Amino acid sequence: MDIRLLRSSDIPLIQHANLENLPENYFMKYYLYHALSWPQLSFVAVDVSRPKKTPYDYPKIVGYVLAKMEEEPTDGVQHGHITSLSVMRTHRRLGIAEKLMRQSQLAMVETFGAHYVSLHVRVSNKAAIHLYSVTLGFDREKTEAKYYADGEDAYCMKLDLSAIRDQIQEARQAGPDAEPEDEGEPVGDVGKAGDEGKQGQDLAARPKEQKRKVKVGRALGVAGLVEKDESSAGGAAKNP
Ligand SMILES: CC(C)(COP(=O)(O)OP(=O)(O)OC[C@H]1O[C@@H](n2cnc3c(N)ncnc32)[C@H](O)[C@@H]1OP(=O)(O)O)[C@@H](O)C(=O)NCCC(=O)NCCS
Repeated sequence: MDIRLLRSSDIPLIQHANLENLPENYFMKYYLYHALSWPQLSFVAVDVSRPKKTPYDYPKIVGYVLAKMEEEPTDGVQHGHITSLSVMRTHRRLGIAEKLMRQSQLAMVETFGAHYVSLHVRVSNKAAIHLYSVTLGFDREKTEAKYYADGEDAYCMKLDLSAIRDQIQEARQAGPDAEPEDEGEPVGDVGKAGDEGKQGQDLAARPKEQKRKVKVGRALGVAGLVEKDESSAGGAAKNP
């Protein structure tokens, strides 16, 4: 499964997924408006396990999240909004919706410095309410009566994004040269080579070896092995 940014060429496929999965449907230009205005925020899940039979085959899109930034926030706080989310029946309960949502939330903070993200959900939509409140930690802000065209109420939900903001800030402060985490004791030859100081300590800890005097040179009777200078007429041996 590949989770990647929405491309304009995916729009007919996500419109198809939306028609299959939800009663709230949109004109093509509304998808395009999201893709062109906030290209960083909407993602698709592509089933890459199905090999393409021809180069012209469309990707198999099994889920999407369509998201935006609120253009004129009434509370004056920069925040994102989830316009639509759905996963095809064949691919549900695999964690795809959670991954799509988390990618979008991260992009809202990284790209636009969003403080929170909001959404609406039908009060009868148990699966989505579980995903938002239990899995992702959204809070239920209020109920909007008859929000949907068929008269059903909506929960207005909100997730504070300060945890993501803090993580990003910490990573930025640490900088690219931040010390990597300690990966434990060095092992194998590489570890030994880089650990000369420790080796020195180990040697010092060993009992001192007894030194023996050994005879070298003439005393061993090696004079005869000295190279002879045969260039001189006499051919006499020359001592070094
Ligand atoms: C709601 C929906 C997007 C969830 O997609 P999904 O990929 O199956 O969800 P995930 O696999 O990421 O599951 C996330 C959590 O929701 C739970 N969940 C998913 N479907 C559920 C269901 N039918 N009933 C109860 N819980 C459910 C999962 O168990 C998981 O919980 P956990 O984190 O405690 O284990 C999907 O059911 C869907 O497309 N529904 C139709 C469209 C829709 O309602 N969209 C939302 C509009 S607001």
